[in-house]
Amino acid sequence: MNNVKKLFMYMKPQNRFFYLSIALLILNIVLGMVNPYLQRLFVDKVLLKKDTTLLIKLVGLMISLSLITSLFNYLFTLLVEFSSQKTVSSIRQELYRHLQELSFSFYDKARTGELMSRLTGDLEGIRVFIPGGFLQFINSIVTFLIALIILFTINYKLTLLSLCLSPFLIYISSIFNKKLRSAFKDIRQEYAVLNTTIQENITGIKVVKAFVQELSEINRFKSVNKENMAKNIKVGYISGKYAPIMWFIGDISFVILIWFGGFLVQQHEMSLGELVQFNGYLWAMIWPLRALPNILNMFEQANTSGERIFGLLNQKPQIKNPENPVTVDKIYGNIVFENVSMKYDGEYVLKNINLSVEKGKKLAIMGATGAGKTSLVNLIGRYYDATEGKIKIDGIDIKQIDLYKLRSSIGIVMQETFLFSDTIKNNIAFGKPDATMDEIIEAAKAAEAHDFILEMPNGYNTIVGERGVGLSGGQKQRISLARAILKEPSILILDDATSSVDMETESLIQENIKNIAYGKTTFIIAHRISSVKDADEIIVLDNGYIVERGTHKELLKRKGIYYHNFREQYRTMMGEKAMDDLLQEVNA
Ligand code: CTP
Ligand code: MG
Repeated sequence: MNNVKKLFMYMKPQNRFFYLSIALLILNIVLGMVNPYLQRLFVDKVLLKKDTTLLIKLVGLMISLSLITSLFNYLFTLLVEFSSQKTVSSIRQELYRHLQELSFSFYDKARTGELMSRLTGDLEGIRVFIPGGFLQFINSIVTFLIALIILFTINYKLTLLSLCLSPFLIYISSIFNKKLRSAFKDIRQEYAVLNTTIQENITGIKVVKAFVQELSEINRFKSVNKENMAKNIKVGYISGKYAPIMWFIGDISFVILIWFGGFLVQQHEMSLGELVQFNGYLWAMIWPLRALPNILNMFEQANTSGERIFGLLNQKPQIKNPENPVTVDKIYGNIVFENVSMKYDGEYVLKNINLSVEKGKKLAIMGATGAGKTSLVNLIGRYYDATEGKIKIDGIDIKQIDLYKLRSSIGIVMQETFLFSDTIKNNIAFGKPDATMDEIIEAAKAAEAHDFILEMPNGYNTIVGERGVGLSGGQKQRISLARAILKEPSILILDDATSSVDMETESLIQENIKNIAYGKTTFIIAHRISSVKDADEIIVLDNGYIVERGTHKELLKRKGIYYHNFREQYRTMMGEKAMDDLLQEVNA
């Protein structure tokens, strides 16, 4: 029940309202206890002794009591709703905040559907627990105790006799509780699988259709859906079996009451009114015992949900902001890699990388797919941390620089572009929300995006992304490029940023970048020689190692991977002969 305890920590700010609702609840229980007493007076005094003036008083009292409890009930519901919604909303906010803090490596492994079910289904489990579990628990306990005390004062013998069945009730509840615990865990797990399946299918629906896998997807879902249903039915089956047992025991208690109670009345040990009153309190005592399984059920549900929610909250971000960051006013962008090696889980994907890129210089990175290019540039903004070695910016280890400062000084176009369901304008201004329209247009022009944006139905106000107009791969890349440029970063990282753009547009962008990148330290990953040949240094990565490095000319002379790439790319473009002449010239 540790998780339930944690839940109450989140309730603290609402404690005032929560305590007030508990007070109202107890008050209502006490008021409810008056009724059987009035019934006793009705039987003993009105029916048996024909006291008609008392009848009018009793009727008046009953109506007033009913009105007051109704009003209290109304207030109670409002308060409970307020405090439970507020609590859950603050946990949700905390979860969302936490999700922003978790590192890339967490998201490499996380399943979106599962995370979604934490923030929806699991939270709902917690919300319903507050009124349905916790307050019902208080309700039951208080009602049970008050009824029990009154019962003893009416007739202790009858009370003891009526109580003899309660050990059974408690025993059965505990068995029930154990079975439900595992059943609920299964349900939550199955719910997450359901969510993940739906989410992945929707995200990948185009692949599904292109590979005509709709039918197999439907069948796969059918089994997940069935499993989910089966797990839910199992809970129904467990509760369904136990509830009648509880009712049966309750009925037996009633039989004992009329049998032995009737006998006591006949013996004049008890008045008829007292028997009626006793009956009223007996029910008040028994219903909490019957409701117990349901309440425990809610506790279990809240506990499993809590376990998953707090488990997520306990995930520590792998990349942490330094506690005492070195104060830096501005990041200039002199970048040095010292013996950097890196692995994700198993094998090294970067080995002994030594680099030095001065402020304003341009480093180009080439290499086959999977060589480690993205991994290398991802280290600069600490999206991942190097396993060994050090990276320094302006002479300071990046682990000592404030993370926000560091990342704010980097403009990156990631290999996989992502745009939000928002206007083009807002997408470009994502990293600099206060940018003026002129600045946005300037960035878009530099990224060669301005012209096609103007052709869109609403220009810069066109909504793109999931629910917006469709964009081509190259158009998306150019918007991402504008987004990176607009930040005016000291460090610009372009990870295959123009791979989907045609050659002509690419060379225009290259020209523009020369101006934009002026003074900025630029890392450019590309496969086209035309994108990298002007770089101050070009490195070629192979299997995590730098295998070639130098300028365009130097690398051509080396006749290694770069040289072969060059031949491959230029042969068809300029013809074998012209290319050989060019190479001759370079080598001369
Ligand atoms: N890798 C990994 N976990 C990740 C990302 C990458 O284990 N989250 C591994 C890949 O399997 C690959 C190696 O790291 O073997 C290098 O990946 P990456 O740096 O992304 O390669 P790139 O050179 O960028 O390849 P590409 O040209 O395809 O982008
Ligand atoms: Mg890559």
